[in-house]
Amino acid sequence: MKVVAIVPAAGRGERLGSPVPKALVEVRGVSLLARAVSGLLDSEVVDAVVVAAPHDYHAEFVRELAPFEERCEVVVGGHDRSSSVRLALESVPPGAYDVVLVHDAARAFAPGAIIRAVVDTVRSGAPAAVPVLPVTDTVKVVDAAGVITATQDRGALRAVQTPQGFTDAVLRAAYSARLDAATDDAGLVEQLGEKVITVTGHPDSMKITTAFDLAIAEAVLAPKEE
Ligand code: C5P
Repeated sequence: MKVVAIVPAAGRGERLGSPVPKALVEVRGVSLLARAVSGLLDSEVVDAVVVAAPHDYHAEFVRELAPFEERCEVVVGGHDRSSSVRLALESVPPGAYDVVLVHDAARAFAPGAIIRAVVDTVRSGAPAAVPVLPVTDTVKVVDAAGVITATQDRGALRAVQTPQGFTDAVLRAAYSARLDAATDDAGLVEQLGEKVITVTGHPDSMKITTAFDLAIAEAVLAPKEE
């Protein structure tokens, strides 16, 4: 079974306060983008990667990914994460791959074991698989004035990571249906009524969003890989 990974990396990373797109930010001399792509290709279950780049950084992303050019293509992304995934998916011929992963460049330290677990779950017959971790904070729902309106049952909550894995047919169906906006791809697939299976995620797959997250990557995650 062939596997392609889509890497939405067209965000600006404004919460990081960086002058360059977040994917080009380096941790110990290696960009998040290069780390995310090499992590996928080194997992030994991913055949090819398609990266969605900011429109004004396409050439720079191609240069950054030159070491992986035989198995990595760069397309121009869109105005939000979903449109970046959609544009990358459109560049993949339907049916050319059995499993499609979607993996945020910002989760540059996802362990190979998690990537393999997601692929294995889809290969075993699941329409979709996502890595998750239990939620350690208590989560509240608030109204526009900041007043709490509900408290969630923490035992039933999970924080969702990437890579998320799908059969080619299910992900294409989700992106061609007229669905409500979702902040992850599984959210679209759930709206189709397809079953999304969870696998155990890993703290190293944390999303690097803020300067604090970057400091954790510098101090804890990169030294483990080098
Ligand atoms: O904004 P957020 O952190 O949720 O973004 C998650 C991922 O989606 C990041 O890797 C970011 O680069 C990507 N993204 C994208 N196109 C956009 C906005 C975000 O590919 N227009």
